[in-house]
Amino acid sequence: MTSNQSRARLVILISGRGSNMRSIIDAISKNEIKASIAAVISNRPDAAGLISAQEAGIEAISLDHKAYDSRESFDKALAKKIDEFKPDFVILAGFMRILTANFVEHYNGKLLNIHPSLLPKYKGLDTHQRAIDAGEHEHGASVHFVTAELDDGPVIMQAKVPVMQDDTAETLAQRVLAQEHSLYPAAIKKLLTK
Ligand code: GRF
Repeated sequence: MTSNQSRARLVILISGRGSNMRSIIDAISKNEIKASIAAVISNRPDAAGLISAQEAGIEAISLDHKAYDSRESFDKALAKKIDEFKPDFVILAGFMRILTANFVEHYNGKLLNIHPSLLPKYKGLDTHQRAIDAGEHEHGASVHFVTAELDDGPVIMQAKVPVMQDDTAETLAQRVLAQEHSLYPAAIKKLLTK
């Protein structure tokens, strides 16, 4: 096994169940991605993903945004914590916070996100229902660099799924999520092998 020293260091930010985070942990343990996860940080202390990270032997940190009186002060504290781990990339995996322009600028070119739509379509929330309502035949997910504009940075990779006639937002979300789990590791791999 390659030593961690030659591996890219990742810090993953989550807010919830962390299934995308787990797919990245799995890809690393199968040696499909030459990276190591230096830490997982959640802005929600009750995020289920923190437990999965701990179980995988990864440092899992909770930084409750409610303890800060402004978006700026939270983002500052978050960046300070992240930088202790000297990451090559910061991976947003279901991190449900709008980030300040200063934070995004600080990680320019190093900050990645996964969004459940074929960007530039359906930025923001409720992407699955909006795709169904618009009569789309195709939907999917995108991994992109994060810029100050919400869900707007350059796309690294996308995965598509068909929209079925009887799809609900839930069934479509499940089909997209299954794709997300191979898309995120593949996009990270693409970046690391450039
Ligand atoms: C995913 O649908 C992702 O595209 C979006 O938030 C969800 C996170 O799910 N950004 P999980 O926490 O990775 O399971």
